Amino acid sequence: MDNPFIIQRDILFGEPFCDREQEIERFLSAVRMRESICLISPRRYGKTSLLNQVAGKLGELGWLTAKIDFMQALSEIELAKEVERTRVKLLGVWRRAVQKLGKSVKGLKNTKIEVDFEDLHFSMGLGGSNESDGRALLEESLIRLRELPEKAGMPLLIYLDEFQRVREIDPKGNLEAKIRANFQKRSKDFLPMYLGSRRHMLQMMFADKSTPLFKSATLLSLDTIRIDRFVSFADQQFKRSLKGYFPANFATAMGQFFHGHPHLLNKTSAVIWDICLREKIQKVSKDICRRAMTEVIREETDAFLEVNRKTPRRHMSVLRQTAGRGTVPKPYSTEFLRACNLTQSQMQKIIDALVSDDRVLRDDTGLHIVDPLEELALKMIGSTPEWRSELIDRLLEEA
Ligand SMILES: Nc1ncnc2c1ncn2[C@@H]1O[C@H](COP(=O)(O)OP(=O)(O)O)[C@@H](O)[C@H]1O
Ligand SMILES: [Mg+2]
Repeated sequence: MDNPFIIQRDILFGEPFCDREQEIERFLSAVRMRESICLISPRRYGKTSLLNQVAGKLGELGWLTAKIDFMQALSEIELAKEVERTRVKLLGVWRRAVQKLGKSVKGLKNTKIEVDFEDLHFSMGLGGSNESDGRALLEESLIRLRELPEKAGMPLLIYLDEFQRVREIDPKGNLEAKIRANFQKRSKDFLPMYLGSRRHMLQMMFADKSTPLFKSATLLSLDTIRIDRFVSFADQQFKRSLKGYFPANFATAMGQFFHGHPHLLNKTSAVIWDICLREKIQKVSKDICRRAMTEVIREETDAFLEVNRKTPRRHMSVLRQTAGRGTVPKPYSTEFLRACNLTQSQMQKIIDALVSDDRVLRDDTGLHIVDPLEELALKMIGSTPEWRSELIDRLLEEA
């Protein structure tokens, strides 16, 4: 039996997905208005999974949809290849849709796309391309993608995932200018959506007057999931698969401990589910919850330390002190400077660097850690397994 709690990858349409009805509705109404949205949240909040659900629903309404993942692309030529791969895949989807629906469907204007020699040549040529012509090839691939809805006679939604990569690849913004120039010529049946995890950078890309993509998408934040929704979702999955039972008090305590963090909650549920299957247990107990939570926390903390091996010690100390306090109202106070063992000017430099790296956030109330996953790991560094276990025990005892 497969574990219904999907981890390590985005959740596809049709797979168990918790909450988010409102967000899905918001996207569907944006689609009807042909409004582009840039969805921002820390990593692992479920942005990609959410757009997969939206895309799935649009597929049922006769749309072509595709994700273009910018995460792995390190250069323009790699971006061009990714765009082209997507386009070729879409042609396949379109062909299958035509076969299935036939001419009888009203919305389907075209039933045949002439794939000319030029087009094939372009696609195949990309395989052996080198860096020097990256920009031109990317432009060409974007034009071909943009023209697809007209050729196919079906509207197309693409979601550009980890879109901040564009700025990372080209900090001067020329690439954004190219994308803007291209998308400006789009028909109403070509709709781009943007996703990303670097708030600071994405805000600069879409909300700064001097940048090419200024105002070309509405910025939206994705929040964590609602705890009551998680509680019923988890119980429902246990019922369906194991004919089991996940008591609401434990699920609520877990939801509160992880502050509704989708990845942490789904991953812990996956571990709990696996223990129940292995040990043939139908009712989730306090002990199982504690074991699963302790394991997830340990794994997340180890992963954090591994990724941060090269983070300077001083940066780490500011991060840890901030995480321990939740909010630092006065980061330049003598007390905080002393706790971090820094001078005021050192602190200023470090905070500036951490803000522009999207690791801390400065607002009216003070300094905070941006990513709750990081905050949790920072708090847990150095604590013994026994201490963690006791902490969780106490939490579940009160549940
Ligand atoms: N709505 C949800 N219901 C259940 N699990 C979720 C949900 N959203 C996210 N997750 C969990 O979080 C993980 C990361 O989701 P993903 O869509 O990749 O996030 P992001 O794109 O924001 O980094 C998934 O593998 C899944 O375990
Ligand atoms: Mg994602």
